[in-house]
Amino acid sequence: MRVVWLTDIHLDCVNESARAAFFDTIAAQRPDGVFLTGDIAIAPSLLPHLRTMADVIQTPIYFVLGNHDFYHGSIAAVRAAVSDCSRSHVFLRYMPEAGVVPLTQNTALVGHDGWGDGRYGDYMRSPVRLNDHILIEELTGLTQAKLQDRLRDLGNEAAGYLQETLPKALDRFKRVIVLTHVPPFKEACWYQGQVGNDEWLPFFTCKAVGDVLRNRLEKRPECRLDVYCGHAHHSGTAHILPNLRVFTGEAHYGAPQINRVIELD
Ligand SMILES: [Fe+2]
Ligand SMILES: [Fe+2]
Repeated sequence: MRVVWLTDIHLDCVNESARAAFFDTIAAQRPDGVFLTGDIAIAPSLLPHLRTMADVIQTPIYFVLGNHDFYHGSIAAVRAAVSDCSRSHVFLRYMPEAGVVPLTQNTALVGHDGWGDGRYGDYMRSPVRLNDHILIEELTGLTQAKLQDRLRDLGNEAAGYLQETLPKALDRFKRVIVLTHVPPFKEACWYQGQVGNDEWLPFFTCKAVGDVLRNRLEKRPECRLDVYCGHAHHSGTAHILPNLRVFTGEAHYGAPQINRVIELD
């Protein structure tokens, strides 16, 4: 099985002809599937772009959503609309809706958006302010303390989903792939070849998800887990455990790219 991995393609940052050319480049790889790890567009254009992409590529697109996908909308409404579409569309597969997806005889796929959950780094002293906190309905107009609670809740939601879903995949498959938007470990939050600092880590790592993954894989040495994520826009590979690796993908606004072609057996 041949899969193309894309992350942080921010399709709203390129014009229609550049989008069409990018979709053609993906189709030219003749993939059996696409992994797309979030920051696809912004809320108003997300589904139209996904549908156009699926029309051109004509292969299943397994995806999670990133923070930008909720801009000018709400997390609840976007997730509901995307889940609804995923239930009926022939090629679009939103991972929290799809559950455990068998890819090959040995490999299954699971995934959740994740969220920068404010747990790594120094949230209270960080001067970082993201557009998330202006452009996403659930995150606007909150005090710093209330926002921290909300970020934690979003991280917990992702972790709770994986806590329940991952064991079902590990029971049946030796190899599992997790798609998520936010790097789940400090070691996977790359910035120019280094790990992100205490000011950025709160918003660029999802500790709750990482804790679940580490805990589960420590108990399953016979299984192997690869995580694909984005959000940091800088690339790197983190070896968390002998059987747990995290690939973080590079991205540039206005220049969507293929991050990797993955061969699965
Ligand atoms: Fe991004
Ligand atoms: Fe992001």
